[in-house]
Amino acid sequence: MTKIPMLDLKAQYQTIRSEVLQAIEEVLESQQFILGPVVERFEERVASYLQGGAAVGVASGSDALLLSLMALGIGAGDAVLVPPFTFFSTVSSITRLGATPIFIDIDPQTFLMDPQAVEAFLEERAQPHPQGDGLMDSKSQCRIRALLPVHLFGQCCAMVGLLSLSRKHQLYIVEDVAQAFGARTLVSPGVSRAAGTVGDLGCFSFFPTKNLGGMGDGGLVVTNRSDLADKVRMLRVHGANHKYHHLEIGLNSRLDALQAAVLFVKLRYVDQWREERIERARIYETLFLSSGLVGEEILSLPNSGDAQSHVFNQYVIRARRRDQLKEYLAKQGIKAEVHYPVPLHLQPCFSSLGYRRGDFPHSEDASTQVLSLPMYPELTAHQQETVVRQIRSFYRG
Ligand SMILES: Cc1ncc(COP(=O)(O)O)c(C=O)c1O
Repeated sequence: MTKIPMLDLKAQYQTIRSEVLQAIEEVLESQQFILGPVVERFEERVASYLQGGAAVGVASGSDALLLSLMALGIGAGDAVLVPPFTFFSTVSSITRLGATPIFIDIDPQTFLMDPQAVEAFLEERAQPHPQGDGLMDSKSQCRIRALLPVHLFGQCCAMVGLLSLSRKHQLYIVEDVAQAFGARTLVSPGVSRAAGTVGDLGCFSFFPTKNLGGMGDGGLVVTNRSDLADKVRMLRVHGANHKYHHLEIGLNSRLDALQAAVLFVKLRYVDQWREERIERARIYETLFLSSGLVGEEILSLPNSGDAQSHVFNQYVIRARRRDQLKEYLAKQGIKAEVHYPVPLHLQPCFSSLGYRRGDFPHSEDASTQVLSLPMYPELTAHQQETVVRQIRSFYRG
């Protein structure tokens, strides 16, 4: 039986092996592993690739989120609006700081934060804060400080709508771009920007499965505001502005030189890999549309969007009898995953927030229906045909 994985990092490695080994060798020869010139060179290159002001390398995407919220001074008494259908650390970054996540249900078509839902929430539940500027959540009495949209699966949120709400209500925007490196989003007619450079801060992850993935953990904060970049740079080294002089209580959270060296090499290929992913999404779409399953057993396919507004870190369908389908595919050697089986408002660790099943029906439905299929630049058309054929044989015998 031929096996089809979710992602084949070995195949990617073979195409860049000699360049990566040379880059690693250079770091080994320098014996400088923490920050230093290799990290700085990567930060400069990635900032110019994204055209996003300054880039600050940190230890993970989770820390990128945490450090960004810390840089904005978000903490106890503050609230951040966030979708419940996302990876865990989008929300734990808020609660770790003693702040309160306020969940806003997703747009069921895209799985993303819906500007209209945010607006409806603000109209219903927000009131002017009694102590000065800004808004207060009338239920929790927290000051609403920020929006935290997630460009989930590689697809950009509707940033134009979110930007206008953020301006109207003086809210920061922290973008979770962990899954969307290289995606571009329209900011005005005909003008696009890299996802992660539209809000106040963009938080990237270099977890190996991401579109730009390292060989270990890594992350990045990108911001057009030099004061925030300086703050994150300080916070990532224990809040010290000079060695052993601490202005704040920061973290130890640096991108290491070995990761920066590998990422510098991979950055050269990231556009090519993005186009290959987009092409594979088109192939899946064609195959599914001719399978006769769409609208019946396959409840929906991902939105192809504009040219680069979806970079398909995951190719996610909605499927009837999802769990049985996943099991059937596994028996045929095809790996598929559920991102994510439990929305965050129903996670035991967040029970004190007081949410219940039924509070966010779009997120709850998504968690029972979504299935991520194999997706990576080296996936062959033959493998894709096999995936769709096996899905068809599950439903139609
Ligand atoms: C949407 C989202 N946010 C945050 C993260 C956290 O990134 P990391 O695993 O690098 O901490 C991830 C990745 O796992 C993610 O997918």
